[in-house]
This record gives sequence, C-alpha cells and structure tokens, in this order.
Amino acid sequence: MQISPSILSADFANLEAELKRIANADWAHVDVMDAHFVPNLTLGLPVVEALLRVSPIPIDAHLMIEDPDRWAPLYAEAGCQSVTFHVEAARDPRGLARTLRAAGARAAMAIKPATDFGPYEDLLPELDMVLVMTVEPGFGGQSFMADQMPKVKQVREAVRRHGGEIWVQVDGGVSASTIEQCAEAGADVFVAGSAVYGAEDAAAAVDELRALVTS
Ligand code: DX5
Ligand code: ZN
Repeated sequence: MQISPSILSADFANLEAELKRIANADWAHVDVMDAHFVPNLTLGLPVVEALLRVSPIPIDAHLMIEDPDRWAPLYAEAGCQSVTFHVEAARDPRGLARTLRAAGARAAMAIKPATDFGPYEDLLPELDMVLVMTVEPGFGGQSFMADQMPKVKQVREAVRRHGGEIWVQVDGGVSASTIEQCAEAGADVFVAGSAVYGAEDAAAAVDELRALVTS
C-alpha cells in the first residue's frame, strides 16, 4: 500500500519545501497538464527536472498531455521513476510503454472515467501500473467518483489473471473517507492532493491515509 501525494495542491512558490513536507510518502505525484488534453496548465519538463534534483522521494509523473508518444520518454530520461501516460492520447501505447521501461522508468497507463479498460487489457505485459482516474482529470479538489470502483475491481482481476507485479493506482478525491473503498476494490497506490496538502500536518495526513489501508 503506497501513498503518492499530488503536489497540485501544494504551494507552487515553495515546491522544494513542499516536497520535504511529504518525505514520509512513497512517491511525489506530479501532475503535468498542457491545456489541450485537459483544460488546465500546470508545469512541464524543466520544472520536473528541478523537482528531481531536490525531491527526497521518487517522482510519479502523471502526464495529462497530448502526444505522450513524443513527450513522455523525456520524463523517463530525466529520471522520473514512474511515468504515466493517458491511453486516450497515445498513438502507440505498447511502443510507448516499452520506450519508458527502456529508459529506466516504471511504465503506467491512465484511463479517464469514461474510458473502458477492456480494450487495453492486452497491454498489461508492457505495464507496471494502471491508473484508474476517480475524477475527470484537470483539477484538484473534485468529488470522488465511487462509480469507478467496479473498474478498479476489473483492473485488479485482470492483473491477478495476468500474474506479475502490476500496481493499481487511484487518483482524484482520495481522502480518509474514500480511501478504504478504493483498497477494497483492489487499488494499492493512492494519490491524494487536497487531503494531504490541505492538512495542517501533511506528513501526518500521509500516515493517516496509509494506516487506513494497512492492516
Ligand atoms: C487531477 C489530478 C490529481 C489531483 C488530485 O487531474 O490528476 O492528481 O491533483 O487532487 P485531489 O486529491 O484533490 O482530488
Ligand atoms: Zn494526477
């Protein structure tokens, strides 16, 4: 069970200090948005490279961008330990996942709430993680979509059938009141933005979330 706080809800003027607040987490989740794939713009490769230099924990880059075939490999080459692309935007998801792994990153595929997992199940051998979005990508602080839990179950069952160590991540609206149902459905990596950075003590919020899903 791993916690990956999203720095989308952090203070962008103090990102190094904000990363240090969550040094007890497993990953730092960095949301890259391009104002095309999603209607919001955050940060790009130069900022991610700067974060990699100062982050006490590995970086989990979530690319909500068009043309990930072109851009995602650069995040892996820069040293992001996990790189997630949206399958809706990828031209050649299989080739892209292979390229990410060859560059030394864990390769992950994200699916939006309206996207079915079924057509992509045959990509599992190329993947280290599947991200099931539990909000419409683009913004922090949205309400958790419990109707995505059957999809989390479906992905977990496919991963079990396939064998191998593939993580199932949830992202969007994950908090102390929603994390347990995600774990019950089969998620094992939990992204939380506002629930961690909105807390007075971010590290304590990370520990609290982890405790809820670790028995
Ligand atoms: C949404 C992003 C999420 C977001 C989560 O598009 O991918 O990572 O920051 O924020 P919360 O936890 O506030 O929903
Ligand atoms: Zn994200």
